Amino acid sequence: MKKFLSVHDASSIHSLIEKALAYKVNPLKDHTLGKGKRMGLLFLNPSMRTRLSTQIAAQNLGMEAIVFNVGQDGWALEFEEEAIMSGTTVEHVKEAAPILGKYFDVLGIRTFPSLKNKEEDYHELYINQFVKYSGIPVVSLESATVHPLQSLTDLITITETFQEKRKPKIVLTWAPHVKALPQCVANSFAEWVNKWGQAEFVIAHPEDYELDSRFTQGATITHNQDEALKNADIVYVKNWSTYTDYGRIYCNDPKWMLTHKKLEATNRAKVMHCLPVRRNVELSDEVLDSPGSLVTQQAANRVWAAQVVLSEILKS
Ligand code: CP
Repeated sequence: MKKFLSVHDASSIHSLIEKALAYKVNPLKDHTLGKGKRMGLLFLNPSMRTRLSTQIAAQNLGMEAIVFNVGQDGWALEFEEEAIMSGTTVEHVKEAAPILGKYFDVLGIRTFPSLKNKEEDYHELYINQFVKYSGIPVVSLESATVHPLQSLTDLITITETFQEKRKPKIVLTWAPHVKALPQCVANSFAEWVNKWGQAEFVIAHPEDYELDSRFTQGATITHNQDEALKNADIVYVKNWSTYTDYGRIYCNDPKWMLTHKKLEATNRAKVMHCLPVRRNVELSDEVLDSPGSLVTQQAANRVWAAQVVLSEILKS
């Protein structure tokens, strides 16, 4: 594996899941694989789970991981080609990225979308400029449009939780939120579940919250959450802002919050959320605090997703 920016960099999802679960059983089985190697973790935006789990994963492989909160501590970066840098940006990625490429063997980057300019966000300028100019393997720690380490984690969690022979019914349901959030987690979850192909997959959201069909193709899409939840085995809850009329909040109908009552229609479904979560806005306390909530297990599995991706990069 030369980079990890999306599901397209995963040649076999099944194999990644199996290897990740093997790391979960024996975290230090490859503890010398990354000996003498260094990973840079660049955060242009906040993080708890991604930052810590990737550091732990690197350490488990014997790598040193150094975190740089660029958005907080670094010079303001310019990403546009041929920019006239007479504004607020101080350093161009054309200088910064090659330097980071000399300091590190692998680079992890977290960037968020502007949610103002769809074309620019979906062009993934920030992370692609690091790929272009760093000269070393780049791992997405969440970009403008996808969050592949989260999605791999989600499939690891579903695989270890759902052990029946039949395919699970997985429902990705939109939930209300007070802020306009990126479509990354939903886009990414949809494209990973679709490529995995081991589920009956339904996406439920209010009208006007359609995601880009490049990610959702293969899923059944409905505006009726109650209908979608019938006989669900896994319910994945996530807010996203509008894609078509980009980055807006049209509907914040509290009816879309997942409650215990709604789960009665499911097949005693397990509930997932990538976190952080707004309690009693996206999900009710009773759901999050119930044994059916997988959110802690899911967040803990972030280590194994990061570890298998780093090990594949180190091996290649
Ligand atoms: N789910 C997730 O990526 O969490 P953080 O933003 O805390 O890294």
